[in-house]
Amino acid sequence: MRIDIISAVPPLLESPLNESLIKRARDNGIVEIVIHNLRDYGLGKYHQIDDDPFGGGAGMVLRVEPIFTIIRKLQAERTYDEILFLTPDGKTFKQDDANELSMKTNLLFLCGRYKGIDERIRQTFITKEISIGDYVLTGGELPTLCVIDAIVRLLPGTIHDSESAMLDSFQTGLLDAPLYTRPAEFEGMKVPDILQSGDHEKIRKWRNEEATKRTQERRPDMLEN
Ligand code: ADE
Repeated sequence: MRIDIISAVPPLLESPLNESLIKRARDNGIVEIVIHNLRDYGLGKYHQIDDDPFGGGAGMVLRVEPIFTIIRKLQAERTYDEILFLTPDGKTFKQDDANELSMKTNLLFLCGRYKGIDERIRQTFITKEISIGDYVLTGGELPTLCVIDAIVRLLPGTIHDSESAMLDSFQTGLLDAPLYTRPAEFEGMKVPDILQSGDHEKIRKWRNEEATKRTQERRPDMLEN
């Protein structure tokens, strides 16, 4: 998979994409991620990328020209399966969306800043508008990272234990059961005996019951679906 990201603030993206599992996936050729600095395509001496909104109002709007230039340049190099824009007025991102996007070959993410982007960019290029939740962040970089992280961890080879991504909360339709590791007792808190019993069938049943209980308590809406 190849992922291109257009951002006015590349440093916000660089470190999270250069650590841990994502870094390993990049190093192993599972995913190629290229960050493009929107400023490089800005207008005039000051590389302007934003301007006041027509009709007035607070906040700046990302201009059409720099974004049209970079997207057209990238489109001349490859065909994108999706061009994604992270925005609070997009469709709420779910595990199913991550599953679907993880099957694609070329993805392009556009990160917004300031008040928003000129509507003509959305009309012309954007194929998917995604929100990560009902709250407003300062820009699209952090939401873009969330979506990319959710996609890349599903790519074969990123997570060594190939079972573990399939057994995630939201893949199984249940939240996870409680987890424990050593020591078996800490400050009077004991690990449930059943997990130390070695009886795999009993453990499987216990985990399923605990997962169902937890889902009922915390996310009853998941059981309705
Ligand atoms: N940009 C700012 N806030 C956002 C959100 N909640 N989801 C996606 N993009 C955003």
